[in-house]
Amino acid sequence: MTDNLQQQFKNNDTKFDFDKEINRKNSYSKKWDKYQGKDIIPFWIADSDFETAPAILEALHQRVDQGVFGYTEQGSTGVREAIISHLSYHYDWPIKSEWIVPLSSLVNGLTFSSLLAGNEGDEIIVPEIIYPPFNFVVANTKRKRIRIPMRLEAERWSLDLDALEAAITSNTKMVLFCNPHNPGGTVYTEQELLNLQRICKKHDLLICSDEIHCDLILDEDKKHHPFGNLNKDAANRSITLMAASKTYNVAGLSFGFAIIPNEEIRKKFAKDVLEKAPEVNLLGQVATEAAFKHGESWRLQQIDYLRDNHDYLLREINAIPGLKMFPLEATYLAWIDVSVLALDNAESFFENAGIGISAGVYFGDKNFIRLNFACRRSLLEEAIKRIKKAVSEL
Ligand SMILES: Cc1ncc(COP(=O)(O)O)c(C=O)c1O
Repeated sequence: MTDNLQQQFKNNDTKFDFDKEINRKNSYSKKWDKYQGKDIIPFWIADSDFETAPAILEALHQRVDQGVFGYTEQGSTGVREAIISHLSYHYDWPIKSEWIVPLSSLVNGLTFSSLLAGNEGDEIIVPEIIYPPFNFVVANTKRKRIRIPMRLEAERWSLDLDALEAAITSNTKMVLFCNPHNPGGTVYTEQELLNLQRICKKHDLLICSDEIHCDLILDEDKKHHPFGNLNKDAANRSITLMAASKTYNVAGLSFGFAIIPNEEIRKKFAKDVLEKAPEVNLLGQVATEAAFKHGESWRLQQIDYLRDNHDYLLREINAIPGLKMFPLEATYLAWIDVSVLALDNAESFFENAGIGISAGVYFGDKNFIRLNFACRRSLLEEAIKRIKKAVSEL
């Protein structure tokens, strides 16, 4: 997007209120229901507490008011057009409508990608640390997981490409990749992606690039590069997974999509989706279309709010003895080193403090916790108070 257009969106007169308190208890919220009846504030699962963009609410209201909820098209013309213009506008990625495979869940997208990796027993490379389903989809599809450590250098996590290449055998068929990375918040540079693509080309590996967090870049100096848009070879060997769900807080509406330029790969993937996955949700398509067509000024204001939350958390967490957080380039998921506290069970320690976090052990490192800061600032302030107290009493 040109700076000029960004500025126009920022100058939009409507101010959205991210401090607004919304009671999510007893509203079918997985995040809040986990601690029903307890004085524990949830900062675990990756959805935000923000009311979604008014343009999305309006589109949903209109569709609900029609009152008929029969079977829906799997990727209506409207949502396909919105995806095409979103990817062209933000990432200069000229995709074709037929490359889009609608998905009710990106975790299913990881599963169907994994099924494309050779046969049972073949190897898939998975970074560690990683969003936990990356591991279980490999097991569920009876492939063998090859873990490649992420490196922490200059306060930034990245995939160790030397270790990755060294681990490749004749049975290795795929890399499951996450960009921006969850957890860790890394936005890979174009050069890093090209280096990965060259390795994939040399060893003829497929790559599934999960880019669900790509519209949540916090670092102003960073830009997201879709893997499938790097060059022709990358397009030919990649499955890129995306959704409006994280950015616009519509994950409960079950709509995402894969972009697969290679026809042969796409046909196999789409056949599995058709035969094995639940169909996509009607309202998820309506929400995604509205988000991508009319949600940009809301998204930009949300990014500003998240940046402030991030900076606040970074300052406060690093002032607590025993805790260490590194700046994130993207996502609203802080990855915090608590190793100095030597906790037996990080989850219960923080729950006893009144804070519901995700324990790092599920992501591959028990020395960390993950804290979702996509919430109103006052909740974060309360979290910091509770964490400070619990740590000082250890
Ligand atoms: C990297 C990544 N992929 C996929 C998902 C889940 O996607 P879905 O809800 O569409 O299955 C998440 C949710 O946190 C995620 O962080």
